[in-house]
Amino acid sequence: MALGVIGGTSLVGTKLVEAAKEREVDTPYGTVYLLVATVHSQEIVYIPRHGKDSTIPPHRMNYKANIRAFKELGVEEIIGVTSVGSLKRTIPPQSLVVPHDYISLCSIPTFYENEIVHVTPGLDEVLRKRVIGAARDLGIAIIDRGVYFQTVGPRLETRAEINLMKDYADVVGMNMASEATLATELELRYANISTVDNYAHGIIADEALDYKDIIEAASKSRENVERVLAKVIEETL
Ligand code: HPA
Repeated sequence: MALGVIGGTSLVGTKLVEAAKEREVDTPYGTVYLLVATVHSQEIVYIPRHGKDSTIPPHRMNYKANIRAFKELGVEEIIGVTSVGSLKRTIPPQSLVVPHDYISLCSIPTFYENEIVHVTPGLDEVLRKRVIGAARDLGIAIIDRGVYFQTVGPRLETRAEINLMKDYADVVGMNMASEATLATELELRYANISTVDNYAHGIIADEALDYKDIIEAASKSRENVERVLAKVIEETL
């Protein structure tokens, strides 16, 4: 059984899937560019969330095609890696968070466009524990709980929005709720590693927020995320 990994800003140019085969997989929702690699004798299907050339912005992502592509290739468990802003002063940039729940108050995609089906969303506890265990075995600090608040993007949030979110969630990002919900709809197990790349707007008074700084910060977490993923893969039976 192949393990799926879907990564964004923090995994651009990742070495994890070096020597991978590039593929384009057709799904009823569109074609997905992905990489198939063998790591520690395990097959890994890696989808770069922003596309082959890192040009697809969050509000244009074809989440349904991405998750369906995993299903087409026989993937049953997915680790999503997402870049987030911190809603708590106690969670500084460079932290890694493995969320246990999420909030998404805006409309997100569904595979059930024409049928009445209501899945109960959630993150896979067994896969979450494997990620946390892998980080701990490596001595990499990881926060083992957290609520992820999904916004639509591409804009960042206003100070007033962050002020509202910060009492209910720990990190804010633009992708995870969509992926986790779609994975649940296709009965795929999904867990997430969020790289904290900035304090959300206004969490530190007077600190300016610049997207270029966020991208630069994301790349600093790449090595730790790659090591955690490699360890999870190594320990996958
Ligand atoms: N807000 C939303 N998404 C993000 C942020 C943020 O502050 N940082 C990284 N992704």
